[in-house]
Amino acid sequence: MGLLDKLFGKQAPQHEEEITMEKMNIGIVLGSTREGRLSPQVGNWVKELADKRGDANYTIIDIADYKLPLLGENGGDASGAAGWSEAVAAQDGFVFVVQEYNHSISASLKNALDYLRDEWGNKAAGIVSYGSVGGARAAEHLRGILGELQVADVRVHPALSLFTDFENGAELKAAPVQADSVNQMLDQVIPWATALKTIRK
Ligand SMILES: Cc1cc2nc3c(=O)[nH]c(=O)nc-3n(C[C@H](O)[C@H](O)[C@H](O)COP(=O)(O)O)c2cc1C
Repeated sequence: MGLLDKLFGKQAPQHEEEITMEKMNIGIVLGSTREGRLSPQVGNWVKELADKRGDANYTIIDIADYKLPLLGENGGDASGAAGWSEAVAAQDGFVFVVQEYNHSISASLKNALDYLRDEWGNKAAGIVSYGSVGGARAAEHLRGILGELQVADVRVHPALSLFTDFENGAELKAAPVQADSVNQMLDQVIPWATALKTIRK
């Protein structure tokens, strides 16, 4: 039992039927696009853990696949934007794989978020971040942005250290507690995604 559960008393688990009536579509969004990035390793690790739960349809969504130019860029080839819109619209919730760039999120993730509006709204999200201090500063910036987009981000936040959860800062070797944290985060994302679906048109 976690510290907060001990302090405030554990919430009664929701009835399984309530949360598995319809499987939610949850997109695992890779936030970085640079060559040599670590985000596919982190995204695949999250997906592996998530798929074991069998409680939702989990899909990796790689921003790099859509080759989005900067929003509104003169002469930019925005032909990937329609596919990006479709991919996001098809989800009921998200796990953002967030890496810290200069104490914030990557420019590619911010640009990809800015591209869409209605496709994000009234959906739930969890954040898995990484960086020298677990990507915490980037994750907190993302929470502010998600508020504006009306994405409900859950409290539990797995934060991977580049020093202790990666070997040589390059190969993901997450401490066991991090897998528990991913599951606790998804325990919050799935019911919120289910609830928010009822208010979307
Ligand atoms: C431009 C840039 C800025 C960075 N700034 C920070 C930072 O402020 N804090 C931090 O903890 N790590 C920082 N890092 C390290 C990244 O978090 C680390 O390289 C991480 O692997 C980047 O994610 P990616 O591999 O998926 O691109 C920075 C990396 C880059 C490329």
